[in-house]
Amino acid sequence: MSSVYDCSVVELPRINSPSGNLTPVCSRLQIPFDIARVYYLYDIPGGETRGGHAHRDLQQLIVAASGSFDVLLDDGINKRVVHLNRPYFGLYMPNMIWRELINFSSGGICLVIASRPYDEADYYRDYAEFVTTVRGGQ
Ligand code: TYD
Repeated sequence: MSSVYDCSVVELPRINSPSGNLTPVCSRLQIPFDIARVYYLYDIPGGETRGGHAHRDLQQLIVAASGSFDVLLDDGINKRVVHLNRPYFGLYMPNMIWRELINFSSGGICLVIASRPYDEADYYRDYAEFVTTVRGGQ
């Protein structure tokens, strides 16, 4: 099972120029998976919360492409909070981590790079079911 300590903040490359900066993310270079999907959350009201689920198999890199938010991580035993506020830092998340994205700044954009296509069957949306599963071996 994954641990919240398997989640890591990755510093992404930065190509800076007076006309603006650029950050590339490549499969198997900055992230340990092949990119299957990219999506982004935007027009999020300030202070709003997203997430509230875990994934059976999906791995993700989560980036505050603009603004900031906090990610609450929970592996069913331990919890951690990671603050994201720069487009050149990404939070790598393995599968089987419950997450909530909270405290969105107004105008914040959350960019997600994912290892699999969207599949509702990959989600745990019930926290009690998630905890029962991860603690099942105990
Ligand atoms: P969800 O993953 O619950 O969003 P969040 O974690 O940001 O709160 O997805 C919200 C809705 O969007 C849900 O109905 C599923 C749909 N969705 C897609 O159709 N494709 C996707 O790639 C994603 C991530 C979500």
